[in-house]
Amino acid sequence: MNNSFDYDLAFSRNIGWFSEDEQQILKTKRVAIAGLGGVGGSHLLTLTRLGITKFHLSDFDQFACENSNRQAGANIHTYDQNKLDIMVDMALSINPELDIKVFPEGINNENMDEFLTDVDCYVDSLDFFALEARKQVFALCYEKGIPATTAAPIGMGTAYLNFMPGKMTFEQYFGLNGYTENEQYLKFFLGLTPAALQRPYLVDPSKLDLAAKKGPSTIAGCQLAAGVAVAQVAKIFLNRGKIVSAPWGLHFDAFTNQYKKTWRPWGHKNPIQRLAFALGKKILLTNTNPPEEVIDKEPTLVEQVLNYARWAPSGDNSQCWRFEITDQNSFVIHMSTTQDSVVYDLDGHSSHLAHGILLKTIEIAATKFKTKALITQDCIDDKDIRFSVVLEGDDNISQHPLVPYIRSRAVQRRSMGTKKLSQQEKAELELALPEGYSIQWFESFWDKWEIAKLNFCNAKTRLTMKEAFEVHKNIIEWKAQFSETKIPEHALGVDWPTARLMQWMFESWNRVQFANKYFAGTVLPRIQLDVIPSLRSCAHFAVVADSEIKTTADYIEAGKGIQNLWLTCTKLGLGFQPEQTPVIFSRYLTAGRKFTADSDVIKNAEKGKHLFDAIVNNANNTVFLGRIGRSQLPKSRSVRLPLDKLMAEE
Ligand SMILES: Cc1cc2nc3c(=O)[nH]c(=O)nc-3n(C[C@H](O)[C@H](O)[C@H](O)COP(=O)(O)O)c2cc1C
Repeated sequence: MNNSFDYDLAFSRNIGWFSEDEQQILKTKRVAIAGLGGVGGSHLLTLTRLGITKFHLSDFDQFACENSNRQAGANIHTYDQNKLDIMVDMALSINPELDIKVFPEGINNENMDEFLTDVDCYVDSLDFFALEARKQVFALCYEKGIPATTAAPIGMGTAYLNFMPGKMTFEQYFGLNGYTENEQYLKFFLGLTPAALQRPYLVDPSKLDLAAKKGPSTIAGCQLAAGVAVAQVAKIFLNRGKIVSAPWGLHFDAFTNQYKKTWRPWGHKNPIQRLAFALGKKILLTNTNPPEEVIDKEPTLVEQVLNYARWAPSGDNSQCWRFEITDQNSFVIHMSTTQDSVVYDLDGHSSHLAHGILLKTIEIAATKFKTKALITQDCIDDKDIRFSVVLEGDDNISQHPLVPYIRSRAVQRRSMGTKKLSQQEKAELELALPEGYSIQWFESFWDKWEIAKLNFCNAKTRLTMKEAFEVHKNIIEWKAQFSETKIPEHALGVDWPTARLMQWMFESWNRVQFANKYFAGTVLPRIQLDVIPSLRSCAHFAVVADSEIKTTADYIEAGKGIQNLWLTCTKLGLGFQPEQTPVIFSRYLTAGRKFTADSDVIKNAEKGKHLFDAIVNNANNTVFLGRIGRSQLPKSRSVRLPLDKLMAEE
């Protein structure tokens, strides 16, 4: 074994993909890399392992803990140290014979010429938002006849472009000059990723905020980008293999398993790019992201817990609670109901279920901050339900396994995968409920068909009932993907024409009547909202209590179990949709309570009740009905009011 450095030996395993002569060519080349953070550090190490021996490197920044997810030099020993020094050391420990010229002040007008002097290729790894420096360095590369390559980490893939001497320039491709700063970011982003392969899996769009100069990044993207950039550099230096240069671009995404070659003749002037820019301005530069709270000070312990708790679900996203922070580790919850305005909130039971859901969420969330939530009931009568919560610190508390699912849990109203639940999945879901509750499963095709019929019939009751009209009219935020206080249209699970029909109908009760009378207006929405999703599920389920639940406290307790069940579903990667209205109409009819003045609607509701009684083993003790399916998290969902808007008024 040879333990001293020997260039030929060190890079001998490259031989085969490169000839020995080619390796010697690589050895003579000089590469400039601006920026040694996210992708630049990986570029440097990967190029060093390719056998490049001469570098011009610039970076003025220091490593910090938040760089750990992706930056090659970030580790607990390098916090606060110069990225440039650390990366030079790392590269030299691969090849101690490297010839490196450093630019510790970063690149600027004064040193850019020197930075590119005698350089054979420029590899771009400047911070995404460092556009002024990027424009200048690409322009100077072009002037000096230096090939420039950019492989950007995009999600879990890489999008790459080469700017070769004599071909389309950076400015011709991106067309940044003359635009505002934010518009330039958008144009750069659109030019880098014309194929936009990453778009379908951005789970939290609020983290991509060009206007606030922030965007997420992964090690998968950085490592892929480094591999790709190095392959481009090798091809350029060896004049071998086809080099794709702008306006051609390539995008490989390891998450979506896709690879796309893009072609944008005339660069930014291409009609597709112009259209993308116009649309992007609306989507990315105006705030259509799910709102994220602007944090201008460190949140307190109570605020941190409440910031989780506010993601608890409530019927129609009513968020029937307000918080009053009483001191640094305690707060009061003022619960309310929608029973006076929402026909589905019979005696406030739906709201009470949501109150239990909130309390369970607080209990779980508290563990994230090594505290136990001590919850006491201050008052519980019809109109005044109050709980006090004290967060008691305890270093021995470990985080509850459902904490990571509090924010991502959401309703899935669309069709889901139907592969049967395994015994293990069912057992875990059953265990999620507290003692005194069990689950009745509906899994066979015929069981699902019966539930589909029930939901179809029940939806007719809902949609032809004047008393529910105002609820429906006010609860949907049309054409929206996210909604702070309502259900956004895209989360409903209907296609565009049906959504428009519904929007038109919900403008006035007369329209609903007209549509029902002359063109069976509710049939299309009911097929899409009720029949198809009922069949496209793994199973429906009824949560059944051992004894009939009656009091407000009973409903609150049941709500706690339902949240545990829902979060467990999310943990298992399963989608979940409550189907609560058959339970509610059953309750109305059993109790002989009137919910509509329309006798036809009552007749239809009775028909629904027969179906319900025939399906569930114990209608009186059934607390909750829902469906579960194999599904990714929905792309559209209700979000929540920010914490300051959830504070109780004095
Ligand atoms: C007690 C309760 C009953 C609900 N009933 C229904 C229902 O019958 N149908 C439905 O699609 N969603 C139902 N939901 C879901 C809410 O509309 C949803 O949780 C809320 O809009 C927030 O959205 P998110 O869960 O996606 O965060 C119910 C939620 C709760 C807590």
